[in-house]
Amino acid sequence: EFGLFTLDPGFRSTASCESKLTFIDGDKGVLQHRGYSIEELAEKSTYLEVCYLLDMGELPTQAQFDEFKHLIATHTMVHEQLLRFYSGYRRDAHPMALMVGVVGALSAFYHDSLNIRDPRHREITVHRLVAKIPTIAAAAYKYSKGQPFVYPNNKLSYSANFLTMMFDTPCDEYVPHPVVVRAMDRILILHADHEQNASTSTVRLAGSSLANPFSAVSAGISALWGPAHGGANEAVLRMLKEIGTADRIPEFIQRAKDPDDPFRLMGFGHRVYKNTDPRARVLKQSCDEVLEVVGAGEQEIFKIAMKLEEIALQDEYFIQRKLFPNVDFYSGIILSAIGIPTNMFTCIFAVARTIGWITQWKEMIEEPGQAIGRPRQLYTGYDIRPYKPISERG
Ligand code: SDX
Repeated sequence: EFGLFTLDPGFRSTASCESKLTFIDGDKGVLQHRGYSIEELAEKSTYLEVCYLLDMGELPTQAQFDEFKHLIATHTMVHEQLLRFYSGYRRDAHPMALMVGVVGALSAFYHDSLNIRDPRHREITVHRLVAKIPTIAAAAYKYSKGQPFVYPNNKLSYSANFLTMMFDTPCDEYVPHPVVVRAMDRILILHADHEQNASTSTVRLAGSSLANPFSAVSAGISALWGPAHGGANEAVLRMLKEIGTADRIPEFIQRAKDPDDPFRLMGFGHRVYKNTDPRARVLKQSCDEVLEVVGAGEQEIFKIAMKLEEIALQDEYFIQRKLFPNVDFYSGIILSAIGIPTNMFTCIFAVARTIGWITQWKEMIEEPGQAIGRPRQLYTGYDIRPYKPISERG
């Protein structure tokens, strides 16, 4: 049964799919990757290990993990000609516009040599995207600042390398604080995959036509950019800064409840979670840890966020509609505290979600009898009617 109509059993619906990667129980606030809880992974694992888990289905042995890290390290640089794509953009272009364009351009570099029917080619595609996406995102930031690109340093951990490519300059060496590296790695883990969200469904649908996976991921980045999806983290911080002080919170709560006001409480609500988003819980705990070390300026914003959550969760409107903070509500506070500008927040989300997109793509391509995605529709338009010459209209 799909709500309004029943699909005949033989119909291969593209409105749903089977997957072994991620399990969500929205009513219980449960999120698991390959059977491991997001809480345990965020606390005990690393982003690169979660990438291995999503890709291969198991946590790696030390030897497997060393091999995986080596394979990723061999792909962290991008082709020098790819870097020339950036100069075609205005310096003040939104970094997500660069991510869409440059990741899509990767298909021009690997299109001819890539046979997606070959498992080895699929595996190299996973490695290439996981390895290059931080380099591409950091370069988008550098381009917006007018600073020289920083090449990847394979001696650093994944998150330390990403932060260094963003903040290092020829004049001042940037050495990220271990708490900042851990916070970035945890943010990447918490955004790695999330079942069939809008951007992942976009990647699956684009990939189902056997299009080049780099262009399918570029389509996913486009979908993620929307403020109702991955763009919400940027919108949350703008909202918290607009609220400014705790005594203005009731005014914004009232606006969010007003059916005639398009304003929504950004970072609240979720299509699936009708209980707390477990990622928001972990991020709220991380805020304390990070703000002790960096981001004194975010302390006030964090207090407003916590007060806003407290008041909203006691309000009948939010209780009735089961609206809780989602992953975006606290992530922006941490990103801001470690020096990431708001227009880069969704790029960070895209860096993290790339492993989810490409492993979901791989799972779909490997699905036996994989068919092109083609969502069905319920036609609600006119019945058949005769054409009228223009002289008889009006
Ligand atoms: C992500 O799918 C994923 O997994 C996505 C994601 C991932 O990891 O990939 O989790 C990441 O996208 C998180 C969501 C980030 N977006 C936001 O925070 C934007 C603000 N949230 C909303 O726009 C909204 O909550 C959605 C789009 C996220 C979810 O919408 P729903 O659950 O389909 O809710 P709805 O639009 O059907 O609204 C139900 C009711 C409506 O009121 P009524 O018509 O019943 O009177 O709840 C209201 C809505 O107006 N509502 C809100 C609200 N969200 C829903 N009211 C005020 N503030 C909000 N944030």
